[in-house]
Amino acid sequence: MSLRIALVTGASRGIGRAIALRLAQDVSGVAVHYLSRREDAQELAAEIHSRGKLSAVFRADLTKKAQAAGLIRKVEEKFARVDILVNNVGPLRFKAWDELEVADWESALRGNLFGAYFAMKAALAGMRQRKWGRVVNIGYSRAEHLASFPTIMPYAAAKTGLLILTRTAAAAEALNGITVNMVSPGIIRGGAMPASRTLSETALGEVGDVAEAVAYLASDAAGAVTGTNLIVAGTWKM
Ligand SMILES: NC(=O)c1ccc[n+]([C@@H]2O[C@H](COP(=O)([O-])OP(=O)(O)OC[C@H]3O[C@@H](n4cnc5c(N)ncnc54)[C@H](OP(=O)(O)O)[C@@H]3O)[C@@H](O)[C@H]2O)c1
Repeated sequence: MSLRIALVTGASRGIGRAIALRLAQDVSGVAVHYLSRREDAQELAAEIHSRGKLSAVFRADLTKKAQAAGLIRKVEEKFARVDILVNNVGPLRFKAWDELEVADWESALRGNLFGAYFAMKAALAGMRQRKWGRVVNIGYSRAEHLASFPTIMPYAAAKTGLLILTRTAAAAEALNGITVNMVSPGIIRGGAMPASRTLSETALGEVGDVAEAVAYLASDAAGAVTGTNLIVAGTWKM
């Protein structure tokens, strides 16, 4: 197996944690990023170690450009490389579309789009040198749909922007051995649920379903798959 290091942002809990554990099966080591839950991140890194793989924890506020770029630098200092970058951080807040303030827009755009962009930009340099890289951005199931989103408009706009970023980077990096894809979860068990919906309206997905999709796109086997948006949403909104 070639030496491969993956970085998963927002791995201290939820979907990010599941992705980190799943990738640990396939790669040499996993860098665990967190913001506030250091103990949870350390517990995850210990679990990855116990499975015979490298791991370490890294803190960064990804709404800040310098910290997003700094995160990649710190992982490269520790492990000499970032071969697989999973941009999983993506905060969701519910607020009526006509009550939004600048701060609401900023936190959605920074948390879902700018952080992923600046982390990707920093990681691409090493991937280009090695002529191999995988970037997987975590979207949400309706990122493809240019529809009406009365309570999550900034989040929907940011995730749609992330999809455009995904396809732009995929086209730009195609000759450098780097693929850039999106995995878009629907309602995942334990995730936020719009108040107007009931669980019986949809089949919920599990965090493991999302992790499996990411593992495929991060693998050698997916070398010809780039610019795609893989929706993992059960029957939600079908
Ligand atoms: N759950 C769902 O049902 C669902 C559905 C569709 C899409 N998604 C997408 O899937 C991804 C993961 O969702 P999730 O529900 O598993 O997330 P989550 O439980 O809300 O976890 C968020 C993670 O992001 C970190 N984080 C939050 N704000 C941050 C910031 N400013 N800088 C750095 N890290 C930050 C948290 O760190 P700390 O905990 O250490 O503070 C945590 O590790 C997101 O992109 C989300 O939009 C989720």
